[in-house]
Amino acid sequence: MCGIVGYIGYREAWPIIIKGLRRLEYRGYDSAGVALMNGSLNTYKKVGKVNDLENFASGENLSGTMGMGHTRWATHGIPSDRNSHPHKSGDGRLTIIHNGIIENYASIKEALTLRGHSFSSDTDTEVLIHLIEDIQAQTHLKLEEAVRIALHEVVGAYAIVIMDKDNPDQLIAARKGSPMVIGVGQKEYFIASDASPIVEYTKKVIYLNDGEIAFITRDQLVVKTIDNIVQTPYIQELELKLEMLEKGGYDHFMLKEIYEQPRSVKDCMRGRIYSNEGRVHLGGIDEYLEKLKNIDRIVIIACGTSWHAGLVGEYLIEEYARIPVEVEYASEFRYRNPIISEKDIVIAISQSGETADTMAAIQLAKEKGATIFGICNVVGASIPRLTHAGVYTHAGPEIGVASTKAFTAQVTALTLMAFSMAQQRGTITQSKLVQLLTQLDQIPTLIEKCLESNESIKAIAAKFKDSRNCLFLGRGSGFPVALEGALKLKEISYIHAEGYPAAEMKHGPIALIDEEMPVVVIATQNSSYEKVISNIQEVKARKGIVIAIVTEGDVDVKKMADYIIEIPDTDEAFLPLLATIPLQLLSYHIAVLRGCNVDQPRNLAKSVTVE
Ligand code: AGP
Repeated sequence: MCGIVGYIGYREAWPIIIKGLRRLEYRGYDSAGVALMNGSLNTYKKVGKVNDLENFASGENLSGTMGMGHTRWATHGIPSDRNSHPHKSGDGRLTIIHNGIIENYASIKEALTLRGHSFSSDTDTEVLIHLIEDIQAQTHLKLEEAVRIALHEVVGAYAIVIMDKDNPDQLIAARKGSPMVIGVGQKEYFIASDASPIVEYTKKVIYLNDGEIAFITRDQLVVKTIDNIVQTPYIQELELKLEMLEKGGYDHFMLKEIYEQPRSVKDCMRGRIYSNEGRVHLGGIDEYLEKLKNIDRIVIIACGTSWHAGLVGEYLIEEYARIPVEVEYASEFRYRNPIISEKDIVIAISQSGETADTMAAIQLAKEKGATIFGICNVVGASIPRLTHAGVYTHAGPEIGVASTKAFTAQVTALTLMAFSMAQQRGTITQSKLVQLLTQLDQIPTLIEKCLESNESIKAIAAKFKDSRNCLFLGRGSGFPVALEGALKLKEISYIHAEGYPAAEMKHGPIALIDEEMPVVVIATQNSSYEKVISNIQEVKARKGIVIAIVTEGDVDVKKMADYIIEIPDTDEAFLPLLATIPLQLLSYHIAVLRGCNVDQPRNLAKSVTVE
């Protein structure tokens, strides 16, 4: 996510803003910028880190007691100086910073262009400040009114701060769907995406609500709704310590990101599913959908967790779009001489968009004539720039090395891709899509429900923190979930763990089973439930210890497993999105109990940019 900082008061604004942007660096970003009011409205912005911005602005007039700053996590427009925030209106009078996504920015941009506006960036944010300028020009209304009207027109999420060159004593802030905190000092106010840039100056904060606009001068704060109804702001006392805030109050980024999954899955779906109509719309692959009617197969290439997401994609695409799918480790694919042709679509999955093996595999597939779709979490990263088309997962920056929210966002994107391909090829009825999308809409809420088991999972983790090995078993789309659970455990707790198709036990791994071997089984109510029960009985017959992930209300598995973790019922298509959550929590708690460095496990990097 982007980071926002604003200040108005009696102190020099620049140092407060720069320090505040550093406090927000944990959110991940690719560029930074500051706007300062010091006689005139000056902006300094640069792709790169806050240090790069400071070096860029050194020697400039950085005085002034009002200003705002921004760290950008690119959503529309690649990371570059010109796409960095702040952005200005066409006449240079207004300046804005923004965290969020304006979903209908393209249509607004088109209308403004027809009215003579020209844009210096590819961002949705610049469109918003031009819209406000245009409304004022058309109506001659005050800025406050123009902002209100503009915010009624936009669809999407925003946390914005606006400055007006002609009004050097006011900040205007507004939010909907993106967080914003206002710090209340003595004749000074602070604005930020969370409390971490504020807490060292004041403990009094107001959490602006969705649909509210704040008009802030040195002497007063007025809050109104976008319907112009004055609100009485509720001032709270911050209790959290600063170091906690940078992780949003969580002990580790990994836990924070596990808990972000209801939002990140929702953000991945935002603006892409129309449940009542039974329709999926993935703008990023639209122009290639026609091609889907006569392709031979889909090849998915990825590494690690992203490869596991690819295996889930295989089940979904073959089940619904009836297209043959092969899933390849990018590191293997790139060194083989694979048979790839222009009749193939290759889907490259990567959270970071910088994985060297995946990039090399893309190049090879491209040279052989394939069409390349990307699924990536970082806008403007190398992989999205290599692919012909694709979708962003919009999960927000993932800081923990162990991938969690990126996995469920990738699976969500693959689900949408499978449904989109199926509707294109006519292999799914509209009524079936209505039913599936209605259930998919519920997944963020069901993930919330899975997270409620955290304490019971923590208790189970305590019993296995000293295990030396662990087996994860699943069938169907439960098998990639088993692989992902095993990877999570081994990469952060250093316990050897293996994921296996449950049916494969009798072909060897069952020799490992004894009273020392915990076996995690994905045993939810689905088409292979009875078979999995037999596998659990095989394990129990050899004194193995079974931790079963079951559908809430299950009674049969409860009679035979040693530990049960319940998840809500859902369509089999969405099982991976729910069953993975308890496995993430189980691995997290075991690793914490073992004193491991959960966010930066030994030997690992967040993005493997080398071979
Ligand atoms: C997963 O927890 C690991 N961090 C690792 O396997 C990761 O998924 C893999 O390196 C691929 O990274 P990417 O998605 O950024 O390409």
